[in-house]
Amino acid sequence: MFTISRLQALATLPWLVISLSVLGAASPTLSTGLSVDQISKVRAQMLNLSTQSWELGTASEVLLELEWPALSVFGASPFPPPIQLDSSLNLSDVLAIATNVVNNRPTDTLELVNDGAVGDPASLGVAVLLANWTRTNRSDNNFASAAGSELSYVLNVAPRAPDGAISHRSDQVQLWADFIYMAPPFIAYFGVLQGGDAELGLLQEAYTQCSLYRDNLQDPETKLWQHIGLGDWQDPTLWATGNGWAAAGMLRVLETIQKSTHAKELEGQSKNLTQWVDEIVTAAWTFQQSNGTLLNSINDNSSFADSSGTALIASATYRLALITNDTSHIPAANKAFTLIQNSLSDDGLLENVVDPLTFNSPGTISPEGQSFVLLLQTAWWDWYRSTQVKSAPALSALTAALSGLFGSV
Ligand SMILES: *[C@@H]1O[C@H](CO)[C@@H](O)[C@H](O)[C@H]1NC(C)=O
Ligand SMILES: *[C@@H]1O[C@H](CO)[C@@H](O)[C@H](O)[C@H]1NC(C)=O
Ligand SMILES: *[C@@H]1O[C@H](CO)[C@@H](O)[C@H](O)[C@H]1NC(C)=O
Ligand SMILES: *[C@@H]1O[C@H](CO)[C@@H](O)[C@H](O)[C@H]1NC(C)=O
Ligand SMILES: *[C@@H]1O[C@H](CO)[C@@H](O)[C@H](O)[C@H]1NC(C)=O
Ligand SMILES: *[C@@H]1O[C@H](CO)[C@@H](O)[C@H](O)[C@H]1NC(C)=O
Ligand SMILES: *[C@@H]1O[C@H](CO)[C@@H](O)[C@H](O)[C@H]1NC(C)=O
Ligand SMILES: *[C@@H]1O[C@H](CO)[C@@H](O)[C@H](O)[C@H]1NC(C)=O
Repeated sequence: MFTISRLQALATLPWLVISLSVLGAASPTLSTGLSVDQISKVRAQMLNLSTQSWELGTASEVLLELEWPALSVFGASPFPPPIQLDSSLNLSDVLAIATNVVNNRPTDTLELVNDGAVGDPASLGVAVLLANWTRTNRSDNNFASAAGSELSYVLNVAPRAPDGAISHRSDQVQLWADFIYMAPPFIAYFGVLQGGDAELGLLQEAYTQCSLYRDNLQDPETKLWQHIGLGDWQDPTLWATGNGWAAAGMLRVLETIQKSTHAKELEGQSKNLTQWVDEIVTAAWTFQQSNGTLLNSINDNSSFADSSGTALIASATYRLALITNDTSHIPAANKAFTLIQNSLSDDGLLENVVDPLTFNSPGTISPEGQSFVLLLQTAWWDWYRSTQVKSAPALSALTAALSGLFGSV
């Protein structure tokens, strides 16, 4: 049981409101989401296990959505971020990641991290931009120049396919579905913070990259995306995690566009992005297994169950429904969420995951899978809350339960 001080310390976190109502319940259920205890264990494992650029970049996005949701692009009004943070909104864990990356930046490349990838280091860019925006030392330009160099690398130095698609790799032109979560959201976010003449062009570039990647990677039959195309080797499988990266990345670009001052001008782009996410989500769930999971290679029934890709696609499903109000895939996402809840060990590790480095064999732990569980929790939470707002009796029951709980603790 939690003590009152722990409850009050956590009460600023939005997901707690719902989790509180299950304190004392034997086990989490769909209607309650993950428990506070599960969330904190999954988070601790995520931070403990994440070391690679894309793992840390994804973790920094997760922390924004989980703890500082007003500053995530899924927040109601994330632009511009506040220049001065306070104790209730100090972003300490996000800024710690950004500071560590910028302090250890290589000197031989414009990139934030030198790991052979174009897309992956860019996933850290939003955290670095926030560190610049909110810095207390106003004459410190390190974060701004690190973010600017990263953008310049992606746009001006990285190799491109003949159609203009930016390579995911530095040494050759190779397109990975993963790129969509890593680079376009950073390009778009950079644009909105920059404002002025640069903004519209950067938003358009982020959109164009999503469009070009879809042209290159989409399987015409299923509408799912293959994992890796072009270059000297390919991964033609319709990788669950890759489809999740694409859907979740396009959603972040879409949210960034919609919350910018150019939302109206870019309505056609928003409409397309929404449709492209819907294509992936709709196609993926047609292959859902009876226990709620997706297979690692979604359409290949000789493949194995992968809970990490399942979690990421389920999170995108709730986010999409919040945008379209189309609830047709919610039952599939709910079933997947139940499977994910049942796939967490007592230590908060997600089980039955693909090895995220081989893509094609079962693994034992997945740093990115830890992040996907929390992306699922936060997306579900926003979805759940929206249904409570629409249904007043349920909301007041929740409020009553909460005040009863506070009163009695
Ligand atoms: C983090 O990993 C180390 C070993 O690498 C382990 O000793 C520690 O318990 C882990 N922490 C958490 C929170 O799991
Ligand atoms: C940031 O805020 C959290 C509470 O939201 C607090 O626990 C933490 O100590 C604060 N960190 C700093 C560096 O002020
Ligand atoms: C850094 O932050 C300041 C505001 O604090 C802003 O004017 C500047 O454009 C930012 N730089 C970048 C690259 O976003
Ligand atoms: C602020 O940043 C500038 C430029 O990097 C640096 O020279 C200065 O020492 C910093 N001030 C503090 C108080 O850290
Ligand atoms: C949206 O997609 C359609 C079909 O691919 C394309 O013809 C159209 O130009 C796109 N709209 C924008 C604004 O890019
Ligand atoms: C779910 O079903 C798949 C087969 O459809 C199976 O491989 C997997 O082990 C099952 N997962 C769990 C957690 O039972
Ligand atoms: C895999 O799918 C094929 C074609 O849909 C079907 O004939 C076969 O029975 C399935 N195998 C398994 C193990 O489900
Ligand atoms: C979905 O519903 C919300 C709230 O009722 C509304 O503001 C929004 O415009 C709707 N979106 C669509 C695409 O219909």
